Amino acid sequence: MANTFPRWANWLPLKIVICLAVLGAGVTAGVTYYFTPKYTRVGYMPEQPVPFSHRIHVDQLGLDCRYCHSYVEKSKHSNVPATQTCMGCHQHVKRDSSKLELVRKNCTRPVKGFSFRGKAPLFDLAPFRLMATPQGNSVDLQTVGPDGKIAMEANAELAD
Ligand code: HEC
Ligand code: HEC
Repeated sequence: MANTFPRWANWLPLKIVICLAVLGAGVTAGVTYYFTPKYTRVGYMPEQPVPFSHRIHVDQLGLDCRYCHSYVEKSKHSNVPATQTCMGCHQHVKRDSSKLELVRKNCTRPVKGFSFRGKAPLFDLAPFRLMATPQGNSVDLQTVGPDGKIAMEANAELAD
């Protein structure tokens, strides 16, 4: 009687077991690496220069998130508010608090004029560096792309 199964079929169960073992090891390694807080950045808590508290401003004062995170409905990335947003209240409330010293210090000169010029494309999500050089009554700004090329040059004129 002819064999129903060819000879190589004898090794099939072993091959399947080895494949499953390799696959299992791969999945385990993937989960171990990609599901860790280090990778997902769960619990990421940078030390902030101003001890801002959402509990005071949102829970107690009932401010709408969009009062500060004003781009959250318009952009892929949310924004952190400008110091002017804070000073709207804090020029009256807690105006002498030492915790707000940095905010006060950085809010004395609002921007009066702004001009910019695109130099090279900078694609969405590409990392970039922003460099600022004070020039008397204005600040020269440069956005440098990942290739080291200047993507944008700008000038912000400050009020006195
Ligand atoms: C009074 C202004 C203000 C309001 C209102 C506000 N935020 Fe924020 N938010 C900030 C500032 C400033 C930071 C950056 C400093 C920090 O992380 O504490 C921030 C950071 C964040 C962050 C990232 C860092 C973190 O602390 O987790 C998230 C997420 C966030 N806000 C969500 C919200 C949501 C959701 C609301 C509404 C329920 C809200 N914010 C209302 C000012 C505000
Ligand atoms: C709608 C008004 C309002 C806005 C806008 C606002 N705050 Fe406040 N903030 C308050 C009030 C009210 C308190 C609580 C004062 C108290 O405890 O009596 C407070 C408290 C604080 C305190 C604690 C001060 C201390 O000495 O205990 C810090 C720090 C602070 N705010 C930072 C910020 C920052 C940073 C922003 C901008 C991102 C901001 N606030 C925007 C009203 C505001």
